[in-house]
Amino acid sequence: MSASNSPRLVWITGASTGIGRELALSFARDGATVAVSARGADKLGELERLSPNIKSFPCDVTDAAAVAATVSSIEQSVGPIDLAILNAGVWHPMTASNYDLAKVKASMDVNYSGVTNALAPVMKTMIGRARGHIAIVASVAGLRGLPKGAAYAPTKAALISLAESLYADLKLKGVRITVINPGFVATPMTDVNTFPMPFLISADEAVKTIRRGLQRDTFEIIFPGRMALLMKTLRLLPYRLFFLATGKISKREPPSASQN
Ligand SMILES: NC(=O)c1ccc[n+]([C@@H]2O[C@H](COP(=O)([O-])OP(=O)(O)OC[C@H]3O[C@@H](n4cnc5c(N)ncnc54)[C@H](OP(=O)(O)O)[C@@H]3O)[C@@H](O)[C@H]2O)c1
Repeated sequence: MSASNSPRLVWITGASTGIGRELALSFARDGATVAVSARGADKLGELERLSPNIKSFPCDVTDAAAVAATVSSIEQSVGPIDLAILNAGVWHPMTASNYDLAKVKASMDVNYSGVTNALAPVMKTMIGRARGHIAIVASVAGLRGLPKGAAYAPTKAALISLAESLYADLKLKGVRITVINPGFVATPMTDVNTFPMPFLISADEAVKTIRRGLQRDTFEIIFPGRMALLMKTLRLLPYRLFFLATGKISKREPPSASQN
């Protein structure tokens, strides 16, 4: 069996809640050993108690040394990581009116640097074995800059570009890389949203789609279908038409509604 289709050891960052937590439970139910990371050790401990296949490795993805030590500790105590799902992320809705530099920097630190901090040690071990699969959780928000995405969207666009840049070389080295671009998923992250979320799906639905996608030899897992179609169409629009559409969205929401 290939590492991608039947991973024996899966490492998931941002596994204490939401999509990461549901993915951990899903892989554990199917018999994989799942190493789970996030900052919240208590929540990871609770998750660990739900399945003997789940092992907790708390860490903050913004701390490069701690992330490298976590990868090393997982590999030494549990075994080689077959599938790394780099999923930890934060969302700060932000417009020009509430632009907050500290939150902008924190978003880049967690969403982008948090992934690169994990990617460096994981790629090294996987390239050494000529085997493994890395999945980076970006977002449809990374496909085009939408209102409220001033802090979040650039981090996700950067992740998509990062995965594209690594794809060919990793393939030559026997390692797969996949980018996961979810639309709106009901999790603690989106619970804060006060605006309508088109095509919102449950974390359970998201996990089923991600699991199916990870088994296919595809670079991008994007869902749900209607959101994928909308965002891919927006991507093709020339700026004049694109800003006509986003201008309407911005006018609908008074600036105070986007404060967070
Ligand atoms: N929900 C959506 O609609 C949606 C759509 C597109 C993409 N996504 C992406 O999907 C991923 C998962 O999001 P979610 O919706 O499941 O959100 P969530 O429930 O808020 O989960 C976020 C996870 O990231 C962890 N995390 C945050 N900062 C961290 C840090 N510094 N170090 C380590 N872990 C950290 C959190 O745990 P701790 O706080 O305990 O550290 C938590 O486990 C994110 O990358 C998000 O951007 C979500």
